[in-house]
Amino acid sequence: MPIIIHEKTGTFHLTNDSVSYIFRIMENEQLENLYYGKKIHDREDFSHLHEEEMRPQMSISVPEPSLLSMHYTRQEYPSYGTGDYRSPAVSVLQENGSRVVNFTYDSHEVFAGKKPLPGLPATYVEEDSEAETLEVHLSDKLTGTELVLSYTVFADLPAIARHARFRQTGSESVVLEKAMSASVEFLDMNYELVQLSGAWARERYVHVRKLDMGFQGIQGLAGTAGGAEQNPFIALKRPETTEFSGEVYGMSLVYSGNFLANVEVSTFDMTRAMLGVSPENFAWKLETGESFTTPEAVLVYSDAGLNGMSRAFHRLYGRRLARGKWRDEPRPILLNNWEGTYFDFTEEKLLAMAREAKEAGIELFVLDDGWFGARNDDWAGLGDWYCNLEKIPSGIGGLSRKIEEIGLKFGLWFELEMVNPDSDLFRAHPDWAIHVPGRFRSHARHQYVLDYSRPEVVDYIYEMVAKILAESKISYIKWDMNRYMTEPYSVGLPADRQGEMMHRYILGVYSLYERLTTAFPEILFESCASGGARFDPGMLYYAPQAWCSDDTDASERVKIQYGTTFVYPVVMMGSHVSAVPNHQLFRTTPLKTRGAVASFGTFGYELVLGKMKPEELAVVKDQVAFMKKYRRLIQIDGTFIRLLSPFEHNEAGWIVVSEDKREALGLYFQRLNKVNGSWVRFKLAGLDPDRLYTVSWEVCGERKVYEAYGDELMSVGIPVNRADLSAEGGDFAALLYEIKG
Ligand code: GLA
Repeated sequence: MPIIIHEKTGTFHLTNDSVSYIFRIMENEQLENLYYGKKIHDREDFSHLHEEEMRPQMSISVPEPSLLSMHYTRQEYPSYGTGDYRSPAVSVLQENGSRVVNFTYDSHEVFAGKKPLPGLPATYVEEDSEAETLEVHLSDKLTGTELVLSYTVFADLPAIARHARFRQTGSESVVLEKAMSASVEFLDMNYELVQLSGAWARERYVHVRKLDMGFQGIQGLAGTAGGAEQNPFIALKRPETTEFSGEVYGMSLVYSGNFLANVEVSTFDMTRAMLGVSPENFAWKLETGESFTTPEAVLVYSDAGLNGMSRAFHRLYGRRLARGKWRDEPRPILLNNWEGTYFDFTEEKLLAMAREAKEAGIELFVLDDGWFGARNDDWAGLGDWYCNLEKIPSGIGGLSRKIEEIGLKFGLWFELEMVNPDSDLFRAHPDWAIHVPGRFRSHARHQYVLDYSRPEVVDYIYEMVAKILAESKISYIKWDMNRYMTEPYSVGLPADRQGEMMHRYILGVYSLYERLTTAFPEILFESCASGGARFDPGMLYYAPQAWCSDDTDASERVKIQYGTTFVYPVVMMGSHVSAVPNHQLFRTTPLKTRGAVASFGTFGYELVLGKMKPEELAVVKDQVAFMKKYRRLIQIDGTFIRLLSPFEHNEAGWIVVSEDKREALGLYFQRLNKVNGSWVRFKLAGLDPDRLYTVSWEVCGERKVYEAYGDELMSVGIPVNRADLSAEGGDFAALLYEIKG
């Protein structure tokens, strides 16, 4: 099994076929990190990896003649105040005002499998043989604060899941001011920091920067993981690491609230990376007997480049983070009315759209914003989750049944964490919106955020939603969240617990998700936050897909989806074909390109089919049929590999390959056409080198065919004809290759 313990030397070796993670109990009884990386031989004793010598300015925190200085020691869970001048993983404020702690080893236990984290999303196992867990118990003897560091090693993946748990057993209370989920030490600083950053409509762009001495990192403080600006993920890669080769360490936080990912390089090029709940505005009080569990951090090591790292995340998050009926099911092809109608719809208009969708082969009709309360624009109605009968006389129950009679499933939009000041809910409960008494309430999109740290608020919303769901035929829910948080404060909490509010809020959101998904296990949930502002593993534990971005322009989507696949499998990415000119960018891209790009996701439409020309509708029918044929391969069974980065080239490319390598789908995309351009060969990956493949693709209704061995396709590539690209629209043209062998 993956966890080897050498009791005599106090050494813990977490290992499987690909990784080794080694730490030990030091002479001061704290834990020292010795190595993390590619699997190495096991040994009884790894203490030769400990380095110490006399250094200037060194503070030694054990009796002489030892030279153990915490500043030069790689640690499992470092604290501040005993000679380590780098960022700590933990900060504990005590009643006497001190923050100095000394967490020393007490005991450890190992068990097969993995336990759930109470109230928190986390990866899981279905069989105990899939993973092994080590829990090391430490405590600060003076305060009686216990700390458990938990490590789960997955048997078949280069992945380790970590979290920390605290329990106060001393007679005095303590306040956790910082409690990271994981801290990892690296032997040198020759790394680049990879992050997925952006803004609304350009979420999860790939950014890479060289590490330098001092701090570097990202954080999210908007109350929605990192919002559109930062994803709760970082990777450290070697400068020479590419998509296909070289070392990379990925760190991903299974959390949807404020987070910090901090990398600090100190003197002597020591690199410390940590990930967890942001310490900003965080302070969690532990009275005697109380405990706190950090969210889970997932560490992935790959020596097969960025694609190697992503493959591990895709497998873990696709199969052992997502849950429920939909985890292993291809997703329904949907039509969402938002960009087609915005708030301007009637029941008749919706039914007409649904009939057109049925005609095209679409399976699910989703009614977006605007069906409830006095919601005719974004000024009113949020919080009033009952149907606006002026717009929909049959009510949601009646409409949903009519849609089912047409032969489609029915889905509905909610924004359950929000309230408009102009709503019955706010008029009845103004104190349910987050605010600081006596201070101005910042607003965004004319709305406030409900205080989900208060269980009575969550209960009330649950009852409202459960009623609609029980009365109607609802197969899908789009759960939106359209503003960032301000004035974090809860009138439901005492002053000394206000630092808990932001985390309690997200625990409240998780609890509502848990209740709804448990009570309505058949419903497919898609999370959303002004597009992709809450695309994080925490959400994906409850809702197995998330709207990737409000930007539906195909060319922009190539970038957004490319970046998103660094961590998240394509089946989790909500992707739709929308009308042109595009509503966000006013750009026109070919319909075939829009379909091809959206195919590598959950797939759907966000337009009025009735406004399309007959020849366009024929293309839509083909796209729907294509998706039905290939969605199991794309979404569930296949391995996704990035081939050409749109962040580095005018072109982009990726491929999905079946497990037996007999079937694959490749996408080649170019931004701008080139006149009299150079020869292009599109190199594939993941195929069987010895297999003869037939590659086929369509150009203006005509099928073209090319035969080659896997090794040719991977080493030489498919010759891409410039005339094909021009015929398919030139600028923003895409070629979709069907590969069979
Ligand atoms: C957000 C979502 C959109 C749409 C609107 C409705 O912006 O990202 O897809 O649902 O809200 O108001």
